[in-house]
Amino acid sequence: MDGNFKENDLSRVVAADKANVWHHLFQHKSLETGDPRIIVEGKGMRVWDQNGKEFLDAVSGGVWTVNVGYGRESICDAVKDQLMQLCYFAQTAGSIPGSLFAEKLISKMPGMSRVYYTNSGSEANEKVFKLVRQIAHKKYGGKKTKILYRDRDYHGSTLATMSAGGQDERNAQYGPFAPDFVRVPHCMEYRKHELGLEHLSGAEFGRAAADQIEKVILEEGPETVGLLCLEPITAGGGVIEAPEGYWERVREICDKYDILLHIDEVVCGVGRTGKWFGYQQFGVEPDFVTMAKGVASGYAAIACMVTTEKVFEMFKDNADDPLNYFRDISTFGGCTAGPAAALANMQIIEDENLLENTTKMGERMTANFLKLQEKHAVIGDVRGRGLFQGLELVSDRETKEPVAESDAQKVVAECGAQGVIIGVTNRSLPGRNNTLCFSPALIATEQDIDQICEAVDNALTKVFG
Ligand SMILES: Cc1ncc(COP(=O)(O)O)c(C=O)c1O
Repeated sequence: MDGNFKENDLSRVVAADKANVWHHLFQHKSLETGDPRIIVEGKGMRVWDQNGKEFLDAVSGGVWTVNVGYGRESICDAVKDQLMQLCYFAQTAGSIPGSLFAEKLISKMPGMSRVYYTNSGSEANEKVFKLVRQIAHKKYGGKKTKILYRDRDYHGSTLATMSAGGQDERNAQYGPFAPDFVRVPHCMEYRKHELGLEHLSGAEFGRAAADQIEKVILEEGPETVGLLCLEPITAGGGVIEAPEGYWERVREICDKYDILLHIDEVVCGVGRTGKWFGYQQFGVEPDFVTMAKGVASGYAAIACMVTTEKVFEMFKDNADDPLNYFRDISTFGGCTAGPAAALANMQIIEDENLLENTTKMGERMTANFLKLQEKHAVIGDVRGRGLFQGLELVSDRETKEPVAESDAQKVVAECGAQGVIIGVTNRSLPGRNNTLCFSPALIATEQDIDQICEAVDNALTKVFG
């Protein structure tokens, strides 16, 4: 808007929204008496609403997506040029941006080699589940169909991905779910007492947390388990990084029982933690990687399922068998705007050294939050990496009793009143929607980081004294 905005210009839009739009993850009762928030414009780190109010967006479009910030001409130009040349052709054939982005993406992912295009993070994850089921039939006589997922992790909104959903409040009332999905415990050090592992710390705790996965595998029977699906850092479940020692042990366990390892990079992928992918922070080698949100920073819808040549080879070994390939299609996986935008997005990250900036600004954000923790007893834990951070709010540091959800929401509202949009875990875990979430764009400056932290400081004082 940059100052040209006239108040009330958008009253018609607000009325249309109230009359006809069903918002995501939103209880609509409040709109019987109030107006919805309409975001009208974005530039860099900032967005403007229908009233012309400016916000510093500390959550990259609400759900950690707009990694390179708003108003990027190079991405818009690339998309426009590509759409004029060829908007779409089914992915049964190739396209210029599809080929070039796959090559560029694989150059950032040593060990991986094939990219499968699709529309959303949920769908990318389902591709993996389908592949694993097909491998079970092709290679293991219909056994090894079980898919392990972790408590507090999230992998999408479809019924199959919710079957792999470790967030009970998110899942409530949507069952029954698909068979052969089995939960393993979380690995959260702050709440290790829930795992009975409070006597361990550091790498010892990390290995013991991973051992709990092995325990589940042994209970289920290793011959029935095909996949372990994990977030590299749990996002909506509370911004949880696995402790030291965890990932090495996870890979060991997968190798020992011939189980494929799937890392869901839908949030961490393409720069969010300061490396191209979250798993690269921990040196683990996955068999599948899925990604969506930051791949094209929301300028076009694109998601990718990436795997190794070893997995790919399993689907072309017998051309005479009509069932012996991946018989799957995703119509909009053939939209060329996605990979065109993704190429330009990656170019920006390289040209502007945004991985380095993310690491540096992330360190500043952590340091600021640790100072706030000294001042505000309500901050029980400071977590995260790069520009992906969380503050867990507790009413008692000893017992780690979570604050009331309504109080956590008040902090978000108070930040909003100061012109800073932050997030909070939302309808994830019963009684555990108490972690404030931060994921500013990778272009954040020191001033942006300080403004976010100052807003949180003021909001915590106001809500908790
Ligand atoms: C870790 C993770 N995986 C998968 C998804 C689902 O992605 P989508 O909403 O694009 O289907 C999300 C969405 O928030 C996510 O956070």
